[in-house]
Amino acid sequence: MQSVIGHALDLAGVAKRYDGVTAVEGIDLAVERGSFLTLLGPSGSGKTTLLMIIAGFIEPSAGAVLLDGRDITALPPEKRHFGMVFQGYALFPHMTVAENVAFPLRVRRMNRAGQQQKVRTALDLVQLSAFADRRPAQLSGGQQQRVALARALVFDPALLLLDEPLSALDKKLRAELQEELKALHRRIGRTFVNVTHDQEEALSLSDRIAILNGGRLIQQGAPSELYEAPRTRFVADFLGASNFLRGIAAVEGRVQAGGTALRVAAPLAAEQAVLLSLRPEKIRLLPEGEAAANRVPGLVSGWSYVGAAFTLTVDTRDLGPMRVTMPAWNAPLRPQQGLAVTLGWDADAAVPVAEDLPAAA
Ligand SMILES: Nc1ncnc2c1ncn2[C@@H]1O[C@H](COP(=O)(O)OP(=O)(O)O)[C@@H](O)[C@H]1O
Ligand SMILES: [Mg+2]
Repeated sequence: MQSVIGHALDLAGVAKRYDGVTAVEGIDLAVERGSFLTLLGPSGSGKTTLLMIIAGFIEPSAGAVLLDGRDITALPPEKRHFGMVFQGYALFPHMTVAENVAFPLRVRRMNRAGQQQKVRTALDLVQLSAFADRRPAQLSGGQQQRVALARALVFDPALLLLDEPLSALDKKLRAELQEELKALHRRIGRTFVNVTHDQEEALSLSDRIAILNGGRLIQQGAPSELYEAPRTRFVADFLGASNFLRGIAAVEGRVQAGGTALRVAAPLAAEQAVLLSLRPEKIRLLPEGEAAANRVPGLVSGWSYVGAAFTLTVDTRDLGPMRVTMPAWNAPLRPQQGLAVTLGWDADAAVPVAEDLPAAA
């Protein structure tokens, strides 16, 4: 029997404190039915703790976990019927792929015919039907992780919880599995909660991202919303690369940074100290005489080439060293030490961000 697809998950005021350590604090989070949410943050930010609270393996010190509006905070993990996949594959080495995938059904005492049918469907879902009789040691890392996915999905879980499931894989395989995970989510329409410290993975997979730092939820939103409108320095810095410019708001639409008057689209109260985030790819190298809302001269002091792109460091008088990224195939110049350039960007390219709050104590 198919359970109701796509459950809604809510966390309300969730905290977990150990003696002297606050792992997470004041977490309010709504995960929409059928959506893909990623908890993103650096190591130690509380991601695993939060996922374990959702799974029921860790009891929160405060707050509640709700599934479709029903309080499940006191419900033991086995009664939640959530699928889980971890970084280590945790497959049973002595069992075949099919036996591994059937395991949750055996635990639930499903009859053999029912098990076989469910296992077939789950292996089809992760495109491993041809490998049913192999043992884990005879599979690649990516295939093992797909078996773990099939095992987590075979009993039609209410939620799928993933803790850094791809982080043990090499870069190319990780990208492939990201695509698969995304396609899988689209096909089955269930609610996924994924944990990662990899910002590109979070951006490419998620409907929504919740950014954690020091045990606090700093900002949540759609990937493009977080990337384009980070509210704090940490978010701007963690989700992509950013230049930070300091100044004082002057007349409407202007920020004074040393001797340079910057044009800014965001409304700002006059005389307020301002910190602006400016993404490296939003800066252009201006040809002689080309107009731009912001024009700042500087000298190239370093660069790196990564095939598809160049990243330049350009030293400026008032704004310090600035990072500029541009596609390499049509780069307007060949980087050279000390080369004089003019940087240009639009008024809405730089967005004001708040300084970071201290971590939860
Ligand atoms: N059982 C525990 N006892 C004490 N401190 C813990 C325990 N589990 C986690 N922590 C602390 O809580 C914080 C968050 O940990 P964790 O949730 O594992 O972070 P992440 O998964 O983001 O790396 C860390 O500072 C960690 O040391
Ligand atoms: Mg973790």
